[in-house]
Amino acid sequence: MTTIIGISGSLRRESFNTALLRAAVALMPADIELEIASIQHIPLYNGDLEGEGIPAAVSALKDRIAGAAGLLLCTPEYNNSIPGVMKNAIDWLSRPADDIARVFGDKPVAIMGASPGPYGTQLSQNAWLAVLRTLRTQPWFGGRLMVARAGSAFNDQGDLVDEKVRGQLRQFVEGFSQVARSNRNAS
Ligand code: FNR
Repeated sequence: MTTIIGISGSLRRESFNTALLRAAVALMPADIELEIASIQHIPLYNGDLEGEGIPAAVSALKDRIAGAAGLLLCTPEYNNSIPGVMKNAIDWLSRPADDIARVFGDKPVAIMGASPGPYGTQLSQNAWLAVLRTLRTQPWFGGRLMVARAGSAFNDQGDLVDEKVRGQLRQFVEGFSQVARSNRNAS
C-alpha cells in the first residue's frame, strides 16, 4: 500500500481543515492510503529543548513522513499567511538540518486549505511555497484546492456536504495520488 501523510494545520476540534482532510481520506483511490497525522503534541520550538534531544512526537512524525510517498498539507490561513502552529510543526520537522534530505528531500507535497472567507487560503498556500522550496521538496502543482466559505461547504458534524467541492477534492487527491504512486515506484 502506498501511503500519503496528511497534516492539518489546525488544532481546533471543529476545524474545517481537519474536516477537509477527513473528507479526502474517504475519496482516496483504493491503492493509496491517506494517514492523518496530528501536530497536537509538538511543542513550541525552542533551541534549548532541541539541545536536550528531538522530542518523541517530532521524531515519530519525521519517520512517518520519511517513509511516505507524499505529504498533503491542509493549511488554514491566518493574517494572510501560514498559521503559527503549523509553521512551528514544520520547523521542528526540519531539525536537525542534516536530516532534512531524509524527511523532505524530493518528497511530493500537495497543499490545500479551507477558510470561511472568500479566498479559501490562497495567500497561506502561496506562503508555504517558500518553505517547501527551502526544504527541497517537490511541490505538486497539478491541482489547486481552495475551499472558500467553508461554513456552507461542511455541516455541523464536519461532513463535506458541498458536492461541487467534493468533486474538486476527488480530482485533487486522484491527481496527487498519481505522483505519490510514481514516487513510490521510483524508490
Ligand atoms: C483567521 N482567519 C482568516 N481567514 C482567512 O481567510 N484569511 C485570513 O487572513 C484569516 N486570518 C485569521 C487570523 C487569525 C488569528 C484567526 C484565528 C483566524 C479565519 C480562519 O480562516 C478561520 O478561523 C478558520 O476556521 C481556521 O481554520 P480551521 O481551524 O477551521 O481549520
